[in-house]
Amino acid sequence: MPLLEAVQVTMSGEKSNDAGDRDDRALIERAREIQSQAHVPYSEYAVGAAIETVDGEVFVGCNLENANFSNSLHAEEVAIAEAVKNGHGEFTRLAVSSDRRDGVTPCGMCRQTLAEFCDDDLRVICDEGEGEGEGVEPTEYALGELLPNTISEETLE
Ligand code: THU
Ligand code: ZN
Repeated sequence: MPLLEAVQVTMSGEKSNDAGDRDDRALIERAREIQSQAHVPYSEYAVGAAIETVDGEVFVGCNLENANFSNSLHAEEVAIAEAVKNGHGEFTRLAVSSDRRDGVTPCGMCRQTLAEFCDDDLRVICDEGEGEGEGVEPTEYALGELLPNTISEETLE
């Protein structure tokens, strides 16, 4: 295939190629797999997250609910905690997926948690699933577009 044909414009307007798209699919797959470990007796809404470090390592997390609802941990929090406690501090992409394949995005709290450790250009890839047939693409955002102008370490200097 000629190079130009392989280039697509994603929903965020950035260019990506087939190899990049395949790579995103692999990250989404990691987010899907970890949903099987979710503890969701209350919402029955399993979420998985997979975050990639600059050196290509991937850490995953799922939601862990609690009978005291506000104690529940979100998938993105669990994933980034795992990465940070293993010594990582620079990230390129996050995939997030619910078992409903409904394009779930990180909630407000998770966006703020991500902003503590990730730059505005972190790619946030939200799983829309395969739909009823072919061609339902994941939706992509930049973290900075999901959470502009937020409080950060610099604010407190
Ligand atoms: N949930 C996440 O794990 N991540 C988000 O950012 C969105 C919400 C979880 C929390 C709760 O266990 C369930 O999804 C329903 O809100
Ligand atoms: Zn959240």
